[in-house]
Amino acid sequence: MPASQAKRKILVTNALPYANGALHLGHMVGFMAADIWVRFHKLQGHDVSFVCGDDQHGTPIMLEAEKQGITAQQLIDRVEQNHAHDLQRFGIALDNFSGTHSEHNQQLSSEIYKRIRDTGHIDVRVIKQAFDEEKGLFLPDRYVKGTCPKCRSVDQYGDNCEVCGTTYDTTELIDPYSVLSGKPPVERESEHYFFKVSDFTELLLSWKDSPALQPEIANKLSEWFDAGLHDWDISRDKPYWGFEIPDAPGKYFYVWLDAPIGYMASHKLHCETHGLNWDEYWLAEHQNDTEVYHFIGKDIVRFHTLFWPALLHAAGYRVPSAVFVHGFLTVDGAKMSKSRGTFILADTYLDHLNPEYLRYYFAAKLSAGVVDMDLNLEDFSARVNSDLVGKMVNIASRCAGFIGKKFAGRLATQSADSALDGAFKNAADSIADKYQQRQFARAMREIMALADRANQFIDENKPWELIKDETQQQRVHEVCTSGINAFRYLCIYLQPVLPALVAEAEQFLNVKPLKWSDLQSELLDHQINKFKPLMTRIESEPVEKMIEDSKASMTPPQSNNPDPDSPLGQDPISAEINFDDFAKLDLRVALISKAERVEGADKLLRLTLDLGGEVRNVFAGIKSAYEPQQLEGRMTVMVANLAPRKMRFGVSEGMVLAAGPGGDELFVLSPDEGAKAGMRVK
Ligand code: MSP
Ligand code: ZN
Repeated sequence: MPASQAKRKILVTNALPYANGALHLGHMVGFMAADIWVRFHKLQGHDVSFVCGDDQHGTPIMLEAEKQGITAQQLIDRVEQNHAHDLQRFGIALDNFSGTHSEHNQQLSSEIYKRIRDTGHIDVRVIKQAFDEEKGLFLPDRYVKGTCPKCRSVDQYGDNCEVCGTTYDTTELIDPYSVLSGKPPVERESEHYFFKVSDFTELLLSWKDSPALQPEIANKLSEWFDAGLHDWDISRDKPYWGFEIPDAPGKYFYVWLDAPIGYMASHKLHCETHGLNWDEYWLAEHQNDTEVYHFIGKDIVRFHTLFWPALLHAAGYRVPSAVFVHGFLTVDGAKMSKSRGTFILADTYLDHLNPEYLRYYFAAKLSAGVVDMDLNLEDFSARVNSDLVGKMVNIASRCAGFIGKKFAGRLATQSADSALDGAFKNAADSIADKYQQRQFARAMREIMALADRANQFIDENKPWELIKDETQQQRVHEVCTSGINAFRYLCIYLQPVLPALVAEAEQFLNVKPLKWSDLQSELLDHQINKFKPLMTRIESEPVEKMIEDSKASMTPPQSNNPDPDSPLGQDPISAEINFDDFAKLDLRVALISKAERVEGADKLLRLTLDLGGEVRNVFAGIKSAYEPQQLEGRMTVMVANLAPRKMRFGVSEGMVLAAGPGGDELFVLSPDEGAKAGMRVK
């Protein structure tokens, strides 16, 4: 830590991933950005806590558990384990990871709610909402679809049209239907609890103009102010998976109320187990003593920059020091896609590739702006191979052999080039600034320029030639000592990005964990260990395998975020079933004797299925993939004992099996030739 700088107390959080699916590489953008920033500050000697956890409440989690035939508690426990494991493997050094369905969070959420209620910032009023009578559930916007009132596109979400971009109320949809039951929802009245955000206009205006926000986010806030601040609906009716609102039986906190409070709860747990003072970070009077930062993606800005500071302030807590918003990840120039195999789960990546490749690649592309970032798989390999293997590790491997073989593993008492040494030392402040400002791409460029310079120095001095000349042995020793020192400086600079590689390098260098202050000294007259290759090149095969595996893994469902520009979903995790569960399925070979379009249906074909005498009427959502006549006369496989389901167009008496990545790409399954209609699948 620079002597001029006092030790700072910093709390960093990353957005809490939803507990209904596996982590994917999109999630890793925020985690890595936060982790690099945290590690940099720790390296500088500051006090940093980094906490996160799963976002474990809400309708999608309740329904996902139902779908898997397990309790919500079982689902969130299972997912929490998976998430924590993935994060640990990616080197995300969280001090605590605990989900929102915790006692601490319930207690904090209730307390915060009571404070804002008792100071008059809650309004209770009756609203009308879409209700699914069959499911007995009020429907979140995302669960109602219908025809856009403006452009008449079918199958649009209840809150906005993806075709013409209009936003509207669910009640304005034409021919609305529930995504859960397929039936038209009814309107039902119920009492809701609203947080009066506009009571905090003054606070929010000064927050908007403070350094807490990136300029593009401050602009967004201005737009929201201009449009007028609306009250925020923080309650949901039962059945809802969440915390019941105090003194309001049957009413639950909307998931987005207790989700950010989950940051406080997770941090509280960390403080309790590590003898830290939680109050110091959160009470309003400590606003200037400690620092609190949230890393989030661009789809959840409103919750973090409007509702969250207002809520904190209303309840007597401090507002965050800053919210750092990052853009979205695309792969090979496009939204991550199941069918192209670019919807890559964290797990799938880790099965094939070293996590530090990705850490470096993300670092090499991240800036402080709200910009989307592309993972171009060719560029990814080229960049990592050239920078990390070709430049950084190469320096050590070029010099280590001589030191080991010719000089018994001992570095010289002085290095060969003070200009090179000076260049590394002098870059410290500039590189630190870039890390501090989250200009990671610029930091990487500056660091790699130093690596180039070191390689050039070795090229010019050619130790492999000098070594043949008896009179030049001392020179070789000093040149290689310079090289090893250059490598050591690079390790310090890259430690926040490549913690695992650097840990191994420390073994090789035979040094204690490196610190930023170690930049001030050189490693001389020092015994080093035998060099082992620290990182190997990325070959094309594992990358191709990862893509193949990604095509084969589970289909991502819709995102839970109500915000319209949230483009991506979550991946479910399948529950294991036992043989008895499987045996309950009556799967039969069926002949598609007739296939026809359904008037007014966008996705459905009506199939007449012959089960060897018995005839079934089935609606199948395969219109996008087949012309009806392609199907007539074909054999397929159906679930014959599925309870009949009433749909808008009639009763469906079973289900045809089809495979596909989701979306419009579909493949109806067929048995081999010779199978007869009605045969049981065993
Ligand atoms: N549960 C909420 C956050 C609550 S925070 C109190 C949520 N969960 S999420 O799983 O959908 O997303 C978690 C984080 O990952 C968010 O910051 C989101 O922006 C980010 N990303 C999800 N997909 C992403 C990409 N494809 N690219 C970059 N970040 C992405 O939102
Ligand atoms: Zn429209």
